[in-house]
Amino acid sequence: KEKKILTLAGDGIGPEIMEQALHILDWVQNNSALSFHVEKDLVGGASIDQNGIPLTKEVIAKAKAADAVLFGAVGGPKWDGIGFDKRPELGIIGLRKELGLFANLRSTIVFDSLVEASTIKPEVIKGLDIMIVRESTGGVYFGEPRGIETLSDGTRKGVNTEVYTSFEIERIARVAFDLARQRQGHVCSVEKSNVMESGLLWREVVTELHKKEYFDIPLSHMLADNCAMQLVKNPRQFDIILTSNLFGDILSDLGAMLTGSLGMLPSATLGARQQNGVIPALYEPIHGSAPDIAGQGKANPLALILSLAMMLRYSFDEQDTSEKVVNACKAVLDQGFRTPDIMSAGMKLVGTEEMGKAVLAE
Ligand code: NAI
Ligand code: MG
Repeated sequence: KEKKILTLAGDGIGPEIMEQALHILDWVQNNSALSFHVEKDLVGGASIDQNGIPLTKEVIAKAKAADAVLFGAVGGPKWDGIGFDKRPELGIIGLRKELGLFANLRSTIVFDSLVEASTIKPEVIKGLDIMIVRESTGGVYFGEPRGIETLSDGTRKGVNTEVYTSFEIERIARVAFDLARQRQGHVCSVEKSNVMESGLLWREVVTELHKKEYFDIPLSHMLADNCAMQLVKNPRQFDIILTSNLFGDILSDLGAMLTGSLGMLPSATLGARQQNGVIPALYEPIHGSAPDIAGQGKANPLALILSLAMMLRYSFDEQDTSEKVVNACKAVLDQGFRTPDIMSAGMKLVGTEEMGKAVLAE
């Protein structure tokens, strides 16, 4: 059956790296049982320029009808000062909300040939492969009550509330456990149950679910502050980290820096299975639109290409083809191809297009 993919390149380096990813998609189409219907549209600043808003109803409808969305990046100085309620970033925030994408999967992989160039000791990061499963539609970023109020004595008070229901916790925990089964890995559930009730409930619900349905998968629990420390000290102890919106935000940035470059890291954001069986999904690099290098042909396309590989795995169940794409990326790195963001002495400096072509050739 033909799979519908909506590509939203967005702004800055988005279109440059998307072009390379689309070549890989063509290759996949010609070399696997999959066939795609690819539709392109505008989002973020590009949509503001054309339509006056960062995310149109039409694009939302197309995203909902698609089997998967492949997303570049949005934002840039051109739209600075356009107003908080009109900014390009609402393109991605709106999509996540409209599609109900509650599970953010951030892959933190260290490629062997980049180990030496990292600022972290090789013996700490060699072979690192962590997946952070972050709840992304609940928690303290959305909980009520919230706001800034002024008390009668003039003191001002800023309020946010961490709220998690057992439904939300169980739903995200299931994603982590299912992934662990697929990877034959283990889950570390991270919260602060020592000082937060939402964390206490988190630990209870995860423990219960594990006992009932996932007792075959090794599960451990860790407090979030300790997890931050352990990620720096001995990151390879982790396989899957299951955590809340706030802790996941912080821990995944920490994890990203272990790998050395933002330009290397893919992500997936998944929703709940629909009646037609489709799980809404959006795949994007974790980096932004990199306005400082946009238009110069030197952006690293690997994070988006690796996001495409995640799409093949998680939306289309094409493990073999997904692995081929990942291995092609590894191979070009082994051959010494480097965009400027990952360049080191003795390596072959290439631009976006050459890097894309090298992956395609592999
Ligand atoms: P950024 O990720 O765009 O850039 C940070 C640094 O990393 C820059 O020096 C950039 O050149 C470099 N970099 C990022 N991706 C790269 C790649 N593929 N190849 C080579 N170098 C790369 O983050 P920044 O500068 O904080 O934000 C720029 C814009 O992107 C802002 O408007 C921000 O709001 C937006 N943004 C959008 C995101 C999204 O669309 N999901 C996520 C993060 C930021
Ligand atoms: Mg963040």
